[in-house]
Amino acid sequence: MIFTVLTLFPSMFESPLGESLIKKARDRGLLEFNIVNIRAFATDIHKTCDDAPFGGGAGMVMKVEPIRDAMEHVDKDRGRPRYVLLTPHGRRFDQELAMRFSRLSHLALVCGRYEGIDERILTLVDDEVSIGDYVLSGGEAAALVVIDAVSRLVPGVVGNDASPVDESFRDGLLEYPQYTRPREFLGMEVPQVLLSGNHEEIRRWRRKESLRRTILRRPDLMERLQPTEADSLLIRELMDELD
Ligand code: 6GU
Repeated sequence: MIFTVLTLFPSMFESPLGESLIKKARDRGLLEFNIVNIRAFATDIHKTCDDAPFGGGAGMVMKVEPIRDAMEHVDKDRGRPRYVLLTPHGRRFDQELAMRFSRLSHLALVCGRYEGIDERILTLVDDEVSIGDYVLSGGEAAALVVIDAVSRLVPGVVGNDASPVDESFRDGLLEYPQYTRPREFLGMEVPQVLLSGNHEEIRRWRRKESLRRTILRRPDLMERLQPTEADSLLIRELMDELD
């Protein structure tokens, strides 16, 4: 999968995309990154990419032409990708959207900066995406979040093929608690069932703890769950315990 990023701050992507899982996936040829500096497509001697807003007011607005020219360069060079603008006005990014993006062969993330981008950018992109209800100073940190969440869903990127399936949100539940050595820490014991070697009991305990955590911390996620018969039994047990 190819990720193209259009940004005024290409160096913000160097270290985050050069470490750990993503680095290994790049080395193995599963992921490719194409970081494009929008400023290279500014046409005046000052390489201007922003200007004062029409109608007045504080702050600067990103110009649309350098972004358009950067996009045309990408289209000619690599074929037209899916263009996603990162903006606080966008559709909220979630695991479902991450899964959809992971099926694309080429995703391009356009990072806004300053007080905003000329509205006419919307005629050039396919989607607008936000990563949550808070204000970032630019789309770069959001682009890295999207790249991280999408990359790990690309087949082969996460070493153990089963691992991403087990995780939080895959079936709409939070992850169960995990433990490793030592068996006792500051008087706190690892739950006995995990040491039992009884795999059926462990599976049941983990499912129950996933349900417990989701009910207590993210009841909103329970509304979307399609519980199996076994889930309904565990939920009844939890309700009795919580009374
Ligand atoms: Cl994608 N961009 C900015 N600037 N702020 C955000 C965001 C994006 N998502 C949440 N806040």
